Amino acid sequence: MKLDIIHYPDDRLRRKAKFVDVFDSSLEQLTLNMLETMYHADGIGLAAIQIGIELAVMVVDITEDKSQPYTFINAKILHFSAEKNTYKEGCLSVPDTSENVVRPANIEIAYQDIHGKHYTLKADGLLATCIQHELDHLDGKVFIDRISGLKKSLIDARIKKAKG
Ligand code: NI
Repeated sequence: MKLDIIHYPDDRLRRKAKFVDVFDSSLEQLTLNMLETMYHADGIGLAAIQIGIELAVMVVDITEDKSQPYTFINAKILHFSAEKNTYKEGCLSVPDTSENVVRPANIEIAYQDIHGKHYTLKADGLLATCIQHELDHLDGKVFIDRISGLKKSLIDARIKKAKG
């Protein structure tokens, strides 16, 4: 089932996700719905906060052919590199906007799968950036919080105007 994605500047994007402690079939259904929603919108990541659910659940697939879906429950960063990477980021919650964002280039995360099993993952490149972008959502942040105040105010003005 495709879900409605909340758009910036909706206050619900500022809420913080709670850790998941029940690993049941409704959690699995949520992740399947999130993947369907992300793929339908041609996104490479989606956090539960973006569909109004305050749980530490996110899905990611950076492949062109949508062949490598990740589902991360209760993800947290264990290590990040001093080395930085810059990517032009976009977000399904901030349509028609893309800006360069600087983030650590390499990360290691701990997370659980939909059954509660624990894993770690080392990521670099676009995957590392995408995971950090989704983790920001779970912390009530959007990527344009990480760009200069001037650029952000121009984007805010444009979005306000578009909304009338
Ligand atoms: Ni996003």
